[in-house]
Amino acid sequence: MANRLTTTAGNPVADNQNSLSAGPRGPLLMQDYQLLEKLAHQNRERIPERVVHAKGWGAHGTFTVTHDITQYTRAEIFSEVGKKTDMLARFSTVAGEMGAADAERDVRGFALKFYTGEGNWDLVGNNTPVFFVRDAYKFPDFIHTQKRHPRTNLRSNTAMWDFWSLSPESLHQVTILMSDRGLPTAPMYMNGYGSHTYSFWNDKGERYWVKFHFKTRQGHLHLTNAEAAEVVGQTRESYQEALYGTIEKGEFPQWTLFVQIMPETDAEKTSYNPFDLTKVWPHGDYPLIEVGVMELNRNAENYFTEIEMAAFSPSNIVPGIGFSPDKMLQARVFSYADAHRYRLGTHYEALPVNRPKSPVHHYHKDGSMRFFDNFNENPDAYYEPNSMNGPQEDPSVAEPPLRISGDAERYNHREGNDDYTQPGNLFRLFNDEQKQRLFSNIAAAMEGVPDEIKLRQITHFAKADPAYGEGVAKAVGLSVPT
Ligand code: HEM
Repeated sequence: MANRLTTTAGNPVADNQNSLSAGPRGPLLMQDYQLLEKLAHQNRERIPERVVHAKGWGAHGTFTVTHDITQYTRAEIFSEVGKKTDMLARFSTVAGEMGAADAERDVRGFALKFYTGEGNWDLVGNNTPVFFVRDAYKFPDFIHTQKRHPRTNLRSNTAMWDFWSLSPESLHQVTILMSDRGLPTAPMYMNGYGSHTYSFWNDKGERYWVKFHFKTRQGHLHLTNAEAAEVVGQTRESYQEALYGTIEKGEFPQWTLFVQIMPETDAEKTSYNPFDLTKVWPHGDYPLIEVGVMELNRNAENYFTEIEMAAFSPSNIVPGIGFSPDKMLQARVFSYADAHRYRLGTHYEALPVNRPKSPVHHYHKDGSMRFFDNFNENPDAYYEPNSMNGPQEDPSVAEPPLRISGDAERYNHREGNDDYTQPGNLFRLFNDEQKQRLFSNIAAAMEGVPDEIKLRQITHFAKADPAYGEGVAKAVGLSVPT
């Protein structure tokens, strides 16, 4: 029989319908190893969900270079116009658990893995160019305000606005979250941003600072709060249905990649800190440069192994692309691989979806999930240095030295930082209807929050733009504090 059912050890199974019992009424026999194996496996079908971004939707695709940027970077993925690289995308909401409804107001994750010829490059971004906090020390505190209250086990509007109103650096991201862009209709209708400042370095060893922007080619579509309530009433899986469905139909969503490039020494001249994740770089100063197109064209055959077990990490970087002094990025370089070792296991990078499509040679050894053969051709070369012809370092991929300076200190990141101009500029770009929706979205999100906290937050809105403060105050039935 070609398609014969077996146990995990390959032993043929004679009966998959009836357990082994003493007499037709039972009890069961301890020796029914087939039943035991089935029940034991079921108990192990879940792994910990991601501590944030647990609910997600993903697909495979291709990145194609359309414009030459080799003057800025030697990264193999950008090496020639027309070059195609396989990639994987996973979109997500931040706060909701795995079973959360898709159409919830939240920032969307925009995580990309590019299987380049020199290893995997992961760009783990969001659908927003900025973030709520600028110091990683505050990230777990911020996330606690997004998750459930310890006593009520409910989300808490009070916790969110208490934290935000005490953290004015969040104003820019809060304004985006409460605007139309805070609730896209489906993943295809939103942009993605690397958000952080990264670096590029070229063949000559010259460094540039860079920001990545993936602009949707499908246009932006958003839901109002009322429309979203309607959608969630019908289906909790609207994003999965839309993304999976469009790819199944052969309508492949696309995004155009642009970069903003800043010469290395400009970072000392800008009026704002270009490594501050709560700020954007004005496009007038650093225009968008077109690079290529990303297309999602293949659904996963197995959601668990290809999307749930995907491990995206900002520490997956390739020659030609590097980090920046951004304090948030620096901490993320640690946090993700640490999360993956806990969530997926020691050798998570060897799982099919994470495994690079370029050669991998390293000297890490045993541990859980050591299910692959020796990485190095000669099994005697299991330490380094060795005289067994084992893998060796390649100085030609060394990043140019990064100039840094300063005394070690816990610098107050709130001192001398303008948290109001950029959110105010964004607010002033909105038309009247967009402003009204912003006010009413904020009012809805402030339901149940004590007035004292609302007023503290309204003061921030008013500092960004008096009309912003007044609009929100009116929507929540209060006056702007004088
Ligand atoms: C997921 C930590 C800030 C985007 C995660 C995960 C952790 C984490 C532990 C779960 C990883 C996993 O289990 O696979 C942090 C820390 C941050 C931070 C410590 C700040 C210091 C950010 C920022 C962005 C971002 C600024 C976007 C610009 C994402 C995305 C995912 C994620 C998209 C989901 C990745 C996926 O689809 O698997 N983050 N995060 N995070 N984070 Fe962050």
